[in-house]
Amino acid sequence: MQTDAGIADAPIKIESFLAPGDERSLADDVLDGLTRPFKELPPKHFYDTRGAELFDRICDLPEYYPTRAERAILREQAQRIAALTGAGELVELGSGTAAKTRVLLDALHSHGSLRRYVPIDVTEAMVRDCAADLVGEYPGLQVHGVIGDFERHLDGVPEPLAGGSRLIAFLGGTIGNFPPGSRRRFLRQIASLLRPQDHLLMGTDLVKDPEVLEAAYDDSAGVTAEFNRNVLHVLNRELDADFDPAAFEHVALFDRQHEWIEMRLRSQREQTVSVKALALSVHFEQGEEMRTEISAKFTRGRVQDDLAAAGLELTHWLTDPDGLFALTLSQPLEGR
Ligand code: SAH
Ligand code: TRP
Repeated sequence: MQTDAGIADAPIKIESFLAPGDERSLADDVLDGLTRPFKELPPKHFYDTRGAELFDRICDLPEYYPTRAERAILREQAQRIAALTGAGELVELGSGTAAKTRVLLDALHSHGSLRRYVPIDVTEAMVRDCAADLVGEYPGLQVHGVIGDFERHLDGVPEPLAGGSRLIAFLGGTIGNFPPGSRRRFLRQIASLLRPQDHLLMGTDLVKDPEVLEAAYDDSAGVTAEFNRNVLHVLNRELDADFDPAAFEHVALFDRQHEWIEMRLRSQREQTVSVKALALSVHFEQGEEMRTEISAKFTRGRVQDDLAAAGLELTHWLTDPDGLFALTLSQPLEGR
């Protein structure tokens, strides 16, 4: 772990849990995923600097409704969330540019409780830039940024501030990017950070018309396609691979049985790709598809069950007028 040197009372503290040798995690994931009969790449590797920029553009696309819907719910409900939680501290998992988070920070700030914001993200530049911006925007706010993988480095979240309660935010529907088993395991890890007075605020995209869903993940401008193929650029750079991204087509389809969107890359031709850092050669048939991400869509019942399996009780279900997206507030079950 590295900690930036700083003055004791400086408003910004940044800790990085990504050691220089941490490409290992990418190497292990890629070796594991590309040697399976149905090839698969894990989604957290989308977000290098270019991936983060592309994701920002996705959020502004007309087809990608989740960001707008979640922002609308936050605008409508932030005061109430501030009053219900009285949080002195906001911890955010997968914070990105924290664009929507400002709505929450504004409400907690005017409620008078806000003291510290703890953003956690794998993309170093995002954590650093957003910390620098936020201390300027909210006088008196402490920002303790954590650069790391929230699946491995949740123990890097600082101890809660003495007195007051904490709100953990997990927005953007990112929980839907976990496969079902690890989703519940991850929720349990989050739950272990919550004391009785603390809350979790989680954003989930909801089941709806498959056409609307598929368009959100396959926009007409091709930004999502570029985002999906970006993972191949990451492998080329980090693992000395020779993928030709143009030889892979973006596929997004709604799996009605599992109720999730599945993102794939389809090999346009028969080809063999070399991943030199792993001494691995990977063969693709023409038309062979490799899964790069799932994005699960939820119903109230499913969110409630997943939370309950993690020892959390859903206390508030907040949705937009069109029922596109939901924010849920939950708390540790009594006697957990
Ligand atoms: N919260 C923002 C961004 C969502 S995109 C929003 O709602 O718009 C998902 C974010 O999670 C990205 O910023 C990405 O870098 C981060 N992320 C994805 N997997 C992660 C992981 N395993 N650990 C930490 N951050 C991760
Ligand atoms: N968490 C976002 C979601 O599931 C991430 C996302 C949006 C995404 N569009 C994507 C991931 C396209 C991969 C490809 O909605």
